[in-house]
Amino acid sequence: MNTYECIMSRHSTRSYKEDMPSDDLIDRVVDAGRFAPSGMNRQNWHFTVVKGRDKIKEISSYVLGNGADIAYNAPVFIMVSYKENTSYAIEDTSCALTNMMQAASSLGLSSVWINAINKSDKASFMQRFSVPEGFRVYGSLALGYEKERGKMRDVKPREETVSVY
Ligand SMILES: Cc1cc2nc3c(=O)[nH]c(=O)nc-3n(C[C@H](O)[C@H](O)[C@H](O)COP(=O)(O)O)c2cc1C
Repeated sequence: MNTYECIMSRHSTRSYKEDMPSDDLIDRVVDAGRFAPSGMNRQNWHFTVVKGRDKIKEISSYVLGNGADIAYNAPVFIMVSYKENTSYAIEDTSCALTNMMQAASSLGLSSVWINAINKSDKASFMQRFSVPEGFRVYGSLALGYEKERGKMRDVKPREETVSVY
């Protein structure tokens, strides 16, 4: 699959198999984030990879305070945190996460962006998962193998969103 085909066919997945992707595949997805563009190439980001549903449920309980799973039972959860009060935190995080979603798709994995823990300031949660001091999570990714195929997005008609002069 070439890059264009990958962009057109990627979709969010909210139903995952229990199978854990290999470390090599997970590393490659994270590297796609590390190699994303960033404003002035500052790369003021940090990637926290959490493997295993038990640990992911721990994160869920910090955030949601109940038994729900913020990652739709995916076996891997990757948090992208960014140095607080620096430029481009949202933009750079978005570039990293987009690269990671596309890379996952090209490697036969599925993913979905998770917003639930953004900007959490729960110190206990941040320490437990070694989010660096002075960083905040700006976005996260659930990652794994798709169980039930996610619906392809509806895309607004071209004339509604594109102007050409
Ligand atoms: C900034 C952003 C935040 C998102 N947050 C969530 C989320 O918290 N939970 C979720 O299930 N999906 C989330 N999504 C996924 C979107 O709902 C999804 O990308 C959109 O519906 C289009 O579907 P597609 O990814 O299949 O193309 C988020 C996507 C983006 C870009």
